[in-house]
Amino acid sequence: MKSLVTYYSRTNITKKLAENIANEINADIDEITPKVNYQGKMGYARGGKHAIQEKIVDLEGLKFDPSDYDVVYVGGPIWAGKAANPVISYLKQNEGKFNNVKFFLTAGASGFEGGFSQMEKYSKKPLKTLALTTKEVKKDDYDLSSFIE
Ligand SMILES: Cc1cc2nc3c(=O)[nH]c(=O)nc-3n(C[C@H](O)[C@H](O)[C@H](O)COP(=O)(O)O)c2cc1C
Repeated sequence: MKSLVTYYSRTNITKKLAENIANEINADIDEITPKVNYQGKMGYARGGKHAIQEKIVDLEGLKFDPSDYDVVYVGGPIWAGKAANPVISYLKQNEGKFNNVKFFLTAGASGFEGGFSQMEKYSKKPLKTLALTTKEVKKDDYDLSSFIE
């Protein structure tokens, strides 16, 4: 089974998780890079606003085409109780190209359910989902076995 892991990460938490998933399943990995700057304090405020608006933004080119894979693992952080809008932008940009999806989200504490249902709305029903807090990712305090099986 051919798998791809695609993620967006502002402060490298979801990136760490994405790399662990990709290593476990020997998958290709691709990073979503928005053309909008979400770094720093200004970027934080912009991100919160854009997430609430579900703003679709332009992305830098990605390396891999999701239609070439049996499963695409798509992940990112929760922003303002929603999936970060660069993740939504990726799903929207690749509408109809996913054979199967699995979603993973990281958050300080909460907002996972809203994020997953929003991601589903922009793509399709995921085979599986994985929700981890920032702390769990930092401490490597999780088990990927049922998510990747
Ligand atoms: C703009 C913004 C909004 C956020 N909103 C939430 C939130 O509503 N709930 C929450 O638990 N964490 C929230 N967070 C925290 C992130 O979801 C969390 O730190 C995440 O693990 C960061 O992942 P990353 O390093 O991959 O970007 C927010 C972070 C940002 C930048």
